[in-house]
Amino acid sequence: MSAPNVLVFGGLNTCSRTLVGLLVPLTGEPLVGNVRVVDKFSVFPPTTYIGAEFAQLLTRPQVEYKQANLTVPATIARMFDPPEGQAPYEYVFDFTGEVQFDRTEMIQIDRTCQVARMIALEAAKRKVKAFVRLQHPFYETSAKGSHDEKEDIKPDGVAGTWWHETLRMLAAIDDLNLVILRIGFVYGPYINWGSIASAITVASVYGHMKKPMKSMWSPGKNPTNTVHAEDVAGAMWALAEWMAPKGRKEADTLAGEAIIFHNEKSKAASVQGMPPPDKKLIAPLFNLVDDSDSTLLSVGQTVTSFFGTTFEFFNFVENTVLKLRADAVEEINEHHVGGWTEMISTSSPPIPNTPLSAYMDKWALEKHVLALSNRKLLEVVGYRLKRPTFGKETIGEVVERWKEEGSWPMLRASE
Ligand SMILES: *[C@@H]1O[C@H](CO)[C@@H](O)[C@H](O)[C@H]1NC(C)=O
Repeated sequence: MSAPNVLVFGGLNTCSRTLVGLLVPLTGEPLVGNVRVVDKFSVFPPTTYIGAEFAQLLTRPQVEYKQANLTVPATIARMFDPPEGQAPYEYVFDFTGEVQFDRTEMIQIDRTCQVARMIALEAAKRKVKAFVRLQHPFYETSAKGSHDEKEDIKPDGVAGTWWHETLRMLAAIDDLNLVILRIGFVYGPYINWGSIASAITVASVYGHMKKPMKSMWSPGKNPTNTVHAEDVAGAMWALAEWMAPKGRKEADTLAGEAIIFHNEKSKAASVQGMPPPDKKLIAPLFNLVDDSDSTLLSVGQTVTSFFGTTFEFFNFVENTVLKLRADAVEEINEHHVGGWTEMISTSSPPIPNTPLSAYMDKWALEKHVLALSNRKLLEVVGYRLKRPTFGKETIGEVVERWKEEGSWPMLRASE
């Protein structure tokens, strides 16, 4: 059997680059025949951060990049047409969706639901053997215990609602060989998106200033389960391999879960492709987090200790004052951003531009609670975590890569 050809949609700004690096490593044998990566960004020259490794991957003969407007169905269909002489694409990895948390409902419907749905419809039409959808941790769970795929966890905000609705829309496509991977807070080399990258950057500023990093949220048990990007990539691949010989019916029998309605009932009439609220929808769904049981406290302690400082909590009075003030977000950021700018501008060699920012938006400063169980993926698919521990070692690697490519300040004294 020859290695499959693979389509990767979206996620250039989150974690699809890591998957491409797994499928076609810089050195060594590719796992696939050819990979076509499709996203809205330009890569020559890049209009988003792509990292030094992906720039090199693009020179591999097996890797092709297409810049495309994925809101146009005809464009999506064209992306499924292989180059002349090449076998059709057999696996599709769907990383699409608007990941910025402050986007409106209309933007979420157009860029998250409709884009994924159109790609999925085309994939079903072409009978691809596996369609693996990445679901970000836009949910709130209870802080107690860890939550498996059977549990009804609550989508978080506008983004969460429509990302979750997208899963229902995909689940409703019966002949789509769909499998969903729902992840924790992702971090890893060349990943500048998300709250962990932000925490690493901000912790470095406090380390530089030799001050404790302080959180607005009480030290109680606030799970914020993490996952390494190499495991996101590894699990996406493992799920494609698991799905391909089975097909949707068998996969539903082995791993199907109810994708429960979590939206306003009235929306179903106006949103194209949205299944009726009472329609029972089943799809294979797997959680993925690492084995660290990360919490706000453990993540805070790990990142700050890496940069030689400590993680503390504002006291009750400080907190009450902060939360009452509309400009609290701006004031907190003044410290981070000023410190980071100073680090960047005193770096030797200089850093002409960096994809990293110490600015924490409202969402990043809000409290998030997410505890997922990864047991099902390990037991049903037999996946083994490559990076089970969120720790100083994995953070060190992330920072090291940023240093090598000139994205991270090189300071004489300490970090
Ligand atoms: C993508 O296509 C849609 C629909 O034609 C259009 O409204 C939008 O402006 C396009 N986006 C870009 C970046 O060209």
